[in-house]
Amino acid sequence: MGQECEMHKILKQLEEKRKESYLGGGQERIDRQHAKGKLTARERLDILLDEGSFEEWGQFVEHRSMDFGLKEQTIPGDGVVTGYGTINGRLVFVFSQDFTVFGGSLSESHAEKISKIMDKAMQVGAPIIGLNDSGGARIQEGVASLAGYAEVFQRNVLASGVVPQLSLIMGPCAGGAVYSPAMTDFIFMVKQTSYMFVTGPDVVKTVTNEEVNAENLGGASVHTSQSGVADLALADDIEALLQARRLIDFLPLSNREQPPMRKTSDTPTRLDAALDTLVPSNSNLPYDMKELILSVVDEKDFLEIQPDYAPNILIGLGRLDGRTVGIVANQPMVLAGCLDINASRKAARFVRFCDCFNIPLVTFVDVPGFLPGVEQEQGGIIKHGAKLLFAFAEATVPKVTVITRKAYGGAYDVMSSKHIRGDVNFAWPTAEIAVMGPKGAVEIIFREDMDSSEKMAMRVEEYRSKFAHPFVAAGRGFVDDIIQPQTTRLRLCRSLEMLANKTLVNPFKKHDNIPL
Ligand code: HXC
Repeated sequence: MGQECEMHKILKQLEEKRKESYLGGGQERIDRQHAKGKLTARERLDILLDEGSFEEWGQFVEHRSMDFGLKEQTIPGDGVVTGYGTINGRLVFVFSQDFTVFGGSLSESHAEKISKIMDKAMQVGAPIIGLNDSGGARIQEGVASLAGYAEVFQRNVLASGVVPQLSLIMGPCAGGAVYSPAMTDFIFMVKQTSYMFVTGPDVVKTVTNEEVNAENLGGASVHTSQSGVADLALADDIEALLQARRLIDFLPLSNREQPPMRKTSDTPTRLDAALDTLVPSNSNLPYDMKELILSVVDEKDFLEIQPDYAPNILIGLGRLDGRTVGIVANQPMVLAGCLDINASRKAARFVRFCDCFNIPLVTFVDVPGFLPGVEQEQGGIIKHGAKLLFAFAEATVPKVTVITRKAYGGAYDVMSSKHIRGDVNFAWPTAEIAVMGPKGAVEIIFREDMDSSEKMAMRVEEYRSKFAHPFVAAGRGFVDDIIQPQTTRLRLCRSLEMLANKTLVNPFKKHDNIPL
């Protein structure tokens, strides 16, 4: 009887502590969070994870600070909700910072909670998803908080390439705190309510005398269109969380797995006659490469990454006959599809992500070359362009390439060509594979002999008929076949099935030295 009573007492105490923890910083602060259009840390997890799947750890963890009045203020959980759950039945580890508790600021204990789930995620092989909403280092704790950040940073690095890491920025993320998300694979930001910067508007004003608000300094729009720090800008918390679920569906849980297969009713043999007329007969006219991507992937489901940054190259995830693929494609609608500094950086990081996680690469090529210009050269296009070349060349995942039109110069080599271990390289009949376009070529070869425009036109035509088609490359085996555009999905699906058990191992090394 006495034992039962004791148990009852402890359970009651447990219940009370849980209630206290669920309430975080209290109803008033929860209301304030809602008034800003933000959900609370727990409401977010309810949307992110499958119903009833969340298993919480560390709900009773409290800070150990004694200074600045903190001794009297403890809230179970200490400003971050951590644990694991599932997304469409697949395991993920999560942490969700609670802005209602000390502004979601990171204490030593708060960091320990995050570190604990990161360690376990790496051991069992499951993604880590961080929901960030924090005023940064817990100011009252001083260096203990900085140490906590560094513990998390170290784990971000160790987890990189082992398990997918996704950061959702759903409130403030400032100072050194930005460097944890920055080292994860993807960053999604919520429009208007989130921002990321190393130093805020006040410091900027003091140091450089520039007047800027938080949104213009580091809001979602800045980071997804100008800086390239973030990958997607979503309308609100709910949209961001749903897109996170969608992303996870494409990915393997770790580098020890193949990406998940998803059943589809979209048959691999589906043809699309519209593709036969996608490329305009005048090769200087643009067309929308996204039409090709949407046409070939299963059920038109393409998760485009960084749509607003360097739009001259498209990157994203789709499926072909149920298999996840990473797609990289030049976009002739922007800068004629030229590779520039930003496009090279954008695509290189994505190619390396796919290679880390066994995701085959499908590359669509229509590239007139690297973008010429003083700004590009002085900005280091040599080093940045090399990143993309390096990334494609080191990748050992299945690589299937389709040249739809231009594949000129160094950019031809870079875009997953046969020479850098493309497994299957197709060309459409409209492909032009050469050192440069006919006009440019003639102007150089016949520089001394350009007396009449007829002669010039004749030579351009001669160059065109010699090189501006896929037959020379096909004749050398640099493309494996010339395919009718409408059969592209079928040919890609077959190639990927053939490549499903591909093994290719790079020479042993500690790690490579990609031109960063
Ligand atoms: C402790 C903090 C806090 C922090 C906010 N709070 N940030 N407590 N440490 N870093 C508390 C506030 O005191 C307040 O408590 C509650 O959280 C909500 O904050 P408000 O200011 O009322 O909210 P809001 O007006 O929305 O402003 C949010 C904010 C602001 C912009 C984030 O709070 C702010 O500027 N905080 C300080 C940011 C900062 O300087 N952080 C340190 C950066 S250096 P009450 O009790 O009133 O609700 C850093 C280094 C990391 O992070 C290094 C890693 C290597």
